[in-house]
Amino acid sequence: MAFAATPTSIRRILTGWLVWPLAVLILASAIPTYYLALNAANDAYDSALLDPVLAVANHISKDAEKITVDLPQVALDALRIDSRDRVFIQVRGPQNEIIAGNQRLPPPPSDIPPAGFIYYDTTLGEDRLRVAALHVPHTLGPVVVQAAETYVKRDKIVLDILLASMFAELAIALAALWLVWHGIGRGLAPLEQLRDDIAIRSPQDLRPVLPDGKPSELVPIINAINRLLGRVKSSIDGQQRFIANAAHQLRTPLAGLKTHAELALRQPSTLELRSLLDMIAGETNRTSHMVNQLLTLARAEPEETTDLYDNPVNLHEISARAVQDWVPRALAKNVDMGFELQDAWTYGEPLLMRELLANLLENALAYTHDGGTITVRTEERGANAAIEVEDNGRGIPEEERERVFERFYRAKGTPGDGCGLGLAIVREIASRHHGTVEIRTPAGGQGTLIRVEFPRMQRTLEPEEKSLRGAAR
Ligand SMILES: Nc1ncnc2c1ncn2[C@@H]1O[C@H](COP(=O)(O)OP(=O)(O)OP(=O)(O)O)[C@@H](O)[C@H]1O
Ligand SMILES: [Mg+2]
Repeated sequence: MAFAATPTSIRRILTGWLVWPLAVLILASAIPTYYLALNAANDAYDSALLDPVLAVANHISKDAEKITVDLPQVALDALRIDSRDRVFIQVRGPQNEIIAGNQRLPPPPSDIPPAGFIYYDTTLGEDRLRVAALHVPHTLGPVVVQAAETYVKRDKIVLDILLASMFAELAIALAALWLVWHGIGRGLAPLEQLRDDIAIRSPQDLRPVLPDGKPSELVPIINAINRLLGRVKSSIDGQQRFIANAAHQLRTPLAGLKTHAELALRQPSTLELRSLLDMIAGETNRTSHMVNQLLTLARAEPEETTDLYDNPVNLHEISARAVQDWVPRALAKNVDMGFELQDAWTYGEPLLMRELLANLLENALAYTHDGGTITVRTEERGANAAIEVEDNGRGIPEEERERVFERFYRAKGTPGDGCGLGLAIVREIASRHHGTVEIRTPAGGQGTLIRVEFPRMQRTLEPEEKSLRGAAR
C-alpha cells in the first residue's frame, strides 16, 4: 500500500535549522553575560562597602590593654544605612572574638593580608552577602573590621544587564529569521517559475525545458526532467511510428482483399456463398476505414520537427475544395449541403485541415436523415479563424459531448459502422494547430454544430490597405 508522505517545506527545514541553534546560542550566551555583569556590579559597589569599614577602623582605640571601638551606637547605625540593602558591621579581635557590631556575621577568611583588605562572598541564613574585610594591626594582635551587605542592588544591576543583552540578541535573532525566511522565498522563486513553466505546458509539448537564467542548483533537476522528456518523446514517437507503419502495411492486403471479394461477387455462385462474400466485402470496407482513420490519427499527432507556422492556410479554400467530394455524396443521400464561406486565415498543414473537415462532414452526413441540411461556414472573428459544420440530424446529447472525443467511443444507438475515431482525429488536429473544438446545438434547436477555432493569422497590411489607412487619418 502506498502512503502519501506529508510534503516537507525547504523553507521550514532551513528556518528550523536556524531557530533552534539560535535559541541555544542566546541562552548559552547568558552565562558569560551573567558573570561579566556580576563583576561589573561588584566593581561598582565594592569600594563604597569599604567606606564604613575604614570609618570604624579609624575609631578602634589604641589602648594597649583592651581593644574597643569608640564609636557611639548612633554613629554605627548611621554607617549601616542603605536604601535597598541591609548592611552588617562587625569587629573581631585577635582570637576571632566579636568586639563590636553584628553577632551573627560569620568570621572572615584567614588570608587577609596584614594592613590590607579583601572582598569575599558569604551567606547569613537565607541571604547572600558581599563582605569587605580590613586587617587593622593592633598592639594586642590583629583586629578585623568587616562590613557586609545583601545582594539586592547588585542583583538588580545584573538582571538589568542580562535583560538588556538578551533583548538585543533576541531582536538580532528575529531580524535574522525574518531575513532568512524572505531570503529563502527569493531563493525558491526560480523553482516556482520552473513549476509554472512545466504546469502550463500541454501534454503534447515535450520540448526540453531551457535552463536560461535558472540558478545552477536547478540545472541538474532541469537536465533530469529533460532526459525524462526525451525518453517519453522517443517512446511516443516509437509508438506513433509503429501504428502508422502497421496501418500502412495493412492497407495493401486490405485493398487486395476488397478487390478479390468484389471479383468473387461477380462470379456465378450460390445464394449462401453470395451472402458470405457480401459480408466479407462489408467487413473489409470497415477494416480499411479503420486502418485509414488510425493512419490519420498517427499523422495528426504532433511531431516536433514540422513547424506549422510556416504555412498560411485559408479555411475558405479548404472548404471550397471539399465541395467537389462531398456535394455528390450529399445529393445521393438527398441532403442539402450549403457553404457560407469567408476568408479565414490561419497557419497549418493543409492536408490535416482537409482530414479535419472530412471527418466533420462524414459525421454530419452519416448522422443526418434523408432530406436534412448541412451547412459549412468559415469566418474570422476577433483573434480567431473558425470553421463550422452544422447539421439538423440526430444531435449529440449534452452528457455525451465530452466523451465523443475519446478514441473508439461511439454514442449509444449510433447507426452505421464507424470506429469512433473521427472526432478524436478532429480534436488532435485542432490542438496540434493550437485550436479548440466545441460542440453546440444549432440555433434551430435540432442537430449538431461543431465549431473549430484556430489562432487567426496576423497578416501584414497590403500596400493599398496601408495607403487607405494613411488617407483616413
Ligand atoms: N454530426 C453528428 N450528429 C450526431 N452524432 C454525432 C455527430 N458527429 C459525431 N456524433 C456522435 O459522436 C460519435 C463519435 O464520432 P466519431 O466521428 O468520433 O466516430 P464515428 O463517426 O462513430 O466513427 P468514425 O468517424 O471513426 O468512422 C459518433 O459515434 C456519434 O454518436
Ligand atoms: Mg465519424
